[in-house]
Amino acid sequence: MTQADLGSPRLEDLSGLVLLGEATAAADPRAVYRRLALEWGPVAPVELEPGVPAWLAMGYREIVEVLRNEAVFSKDTRSWRWFAEGRIAAATSPVAAFLAPRDNAMFTDGKHRERLRAALDDGFANLDELAVGRALRALCDSLLDDLVSRGEADLVREYAEIVPVLAVGAMLGLSPDAARSMLPHVRAVFAGGPGVRPAASAIHRTFVELSARARTNRAMAILLRDDPGPVRDLTEALVAHPNLETDVEVSSSLAMTLISGCQMEIAWIAQTFELVLTDAEFAGRVRGGRLGLDDALDEVLWREPPSTNLAPRFATHDVELGGLRVAQGDAVVLGIAAANAAQEQAVADDPWAGLGNRAHLTWGAGPHRCPAERSARFIARIAVERALARFEDLELAIPAESLRRVPTPWTRHSVSLPVRYARPVVFEQY
Ligand code: HEM
Repeated sequence: MTQADLGSPRLEDLSGLVLLGEATAAADPRAVYRRLALEWGPVAPVELEPGVPAWLAMGYREIVEVLRNEAVFSKDTRSWRWFAEGRIAAATSPVAAFLAPRDNAMFTDGKHRERLRAALDDGFANLDELAVGRALRALCDSLLDDLVSRGEADLVREYAEIVPVLAVGAMLGLSPDAARSMLPHVRAVFAGGPGVRPAASAIHRTFVELSARARTNRAMAILLRDDPGPVRDLTEALVAHPNLETDVEVSSSLAMTLISGCQMEIAWIAQTFELVLTDAEFAGRVRGGRLGLDDALDEVLWREPPSTNLAPRFATHDVELGGLRVAQGDAVVLGIAAANAAQEQAVADDPWAGLGNRAHLTWGAGPHRCPAERSARFIARIAVERALARFEDLELAIPAESLRRVPTPWTRHSVSLPVRYARPVVFEQY
């Protein structure tokens, strides 16, 4: 008989649970994970929003078990008991709006997911990274030209948030203005609250229009020249892909790529700056050249993973996980930050021990593993490298204790990062 048979509690019967968003935004989330693990073990109950409980898997083994087994742990929100029984609805619950069923690779399983995901994988594989890299360097430099001359800036609001929407937007074929206009919507989707639905609709509308335009251009080119011409961005790649059957599938895939890609990238860049500004040892190693930028970025993925908690999977039948009984229809959130922290602790107290070790769960695992790791790495690398090369005597302009975190259970970074730095000396010409 397993421990699970010996009276494991039902999620519905538990009260006084930790609110996941509060744990994520806490000054020391690791202390919260340690407390939960002491009380419950590798899987603990939490609340996604008041009155909506879920399991938080924090053990490396348990997380991989869930991520690799989509037949038992479905990504389709219609398998969530709370959703299927109408206990929560997208119209009234922020978390239900965030997780509402969508026809893209992220929210589907099995053969359907395979078909949608193959189109994305092909699209990313054929991206012209050299061209994106060139455009990105120019874009970072032009943002920095403006910031550097001022002597003070907000590194999140004015840089870490802007570079990813412009970079991912360019990959998707959005103009810089259209990409920038997506930023408040991306923020709203992750923040939860009543803004999720209108923001998601605005993003979808943009991509329905963009894919319709790409489809028309392609049809006209075939009509006029018998040749659709080269695919220039991800939107054109998805429109041309035989696996995607409807415009809803195309625009839903694009919207999901923009939302997920931007938010992850913002968190990665913002957290790297924050560590440089608040952790003297990390900053010394980066600035002194003892820690190469790629290793520094990887250290951030370990310590402050942008994918702090992955959106839940839903048990398709009763199953044992980490010694607990997870009932059919329960939500299981994947606590990547908690698992990385436990792994890191297990490796050693030596901050060098984890270097070069990319065995963290930050990119996910199994069929939904991030398809864009290469692109994600070069966006973050270019953004951070360009900025650190330009700012002299960079320092935080407010006490580190007063930094506030974005209000979301899914990722973690500061809302803003006010900094000051030396203004360049301008020599007068006579
Ligand atoms: C800091 C950088 C990034 C990290 C840490 C990251 C991490 C992840 C993780 C963990 C997943 C799996 C989610 C799950 O299993 O529930 C994922 C999925 C995804 N990511 Fe990334 N990501 C990053 C950047 C990007 C970028 C820049 C893009 C696009 C340009 C992107 C596009 C996607 C897409 C489309 C999926 C859904 C894949 C699927 O469900 O099949 N990601 N990402």
